Amino acid sequence: MTRQSIFITGAASGIGKATALQFHARGWFVGATDVDAQGLSKLADELNHDCFTAELDVTDKTAFDAVMADFSVLTDHRLNILFNNAGIAVFGFLDEVPFEKVIATVNVNLIGVLNGIHAGIELLKQTPNALCFTTSSSAASFGTPGMAAYGATKVAVKGLTEAMSVELARFGARAADVSPGIIDTPLWQNGERFVRGEHRPIRNLPELNRDRTDAGRTVSASAVAESVWAAYQGDRLHWYVPPEVVERDRAKALDPERLRDELIAQQKK
Ligand code: NAI
Repeated sequence: MTRQSIFITGAASGIGKATALQFHARGWFVGATDVDAQGLSKLADELNHDCFTAELDVTDKTAFDAVMADFSVLTDHRLNILFNNAGIAVFGFLDEVPFEKVIATVNVNLIGVLNGIHAGIELLKQTPNALCFTTSSSAASFGTPGMAAYGATKVAVKGLTEAMSVELARFGARAADVSPGIIDTPLWQNGERFVRGEHRPIRNLPELNRDRTDAGRTVSASAVAESVWAAYQGDRLHWYVPPEVVERDRAKALDPERLRDELIAQQKK
């Protein structure tokens, strides 16, 4: 196959779907995977069935390997971008969230990414200038209270990117990630929040932040998809959408105790 290809997890919705649509519009061959079969079927319709789709739970390594093998037959064993994007969010203080939800978050957001890298790495090695790209989060800038496990997985993703960017250089391949801020996707309706172990409605931050103009403003999923494209053309390790999200990373690096104390003070209000 002469077309460039991208393999996306969590492609049935939000950022993954926006990325699938954009890359397809640019002529790329899209491998779209998700646990949501109905969402994938809708996406396939939107792409005129000019794509590969497969129901895939990223936590299942055996299934991941099998789906990647099916995809690779269609791309002559090439993969220009592996986009490990699937993620779930669980909100609530760590001691108030059911432990199985904590582990599920780690399984999807971190183990799922490791599964993806392991399943796709041979294809990346065989493809000149390939990119291993992952969705981190602004929740990784400073470990996020009320999303401790989620934030931890997203910090881990950034560490993985850094290590892989060096390891993959042995094969002429690259690694990068994106830290989105508040993105208008179904994650905010589908995420779970717990208070003292009880389910509570989640605060719909994209709705609440619509009038903000700072780093916490509401941004579209397609803006994050643009960063995947920019990363493929560029050389940066960490991308931020909107770009001001990087400022919190910098503030943390300069004075983590100050940031901690500000957050403790806010919590007491
Ligand atoms: P979304 O909920 O619209 O899309 C996530 C997709 O992942 C869904 O289609 C869902 O079915 C799929 N998924 C969930 N568990 C899965 C599993 N085990 N295996 C395969 N697919 C699975 O949410 P969104 O916002 O597009 O999320 C994409 C990524 O962006 C996630 O990693 C999320 O943590 C991250 N992110 C989102 C932000 C936001 O404000 N929406 C901000 C920062 C990061």
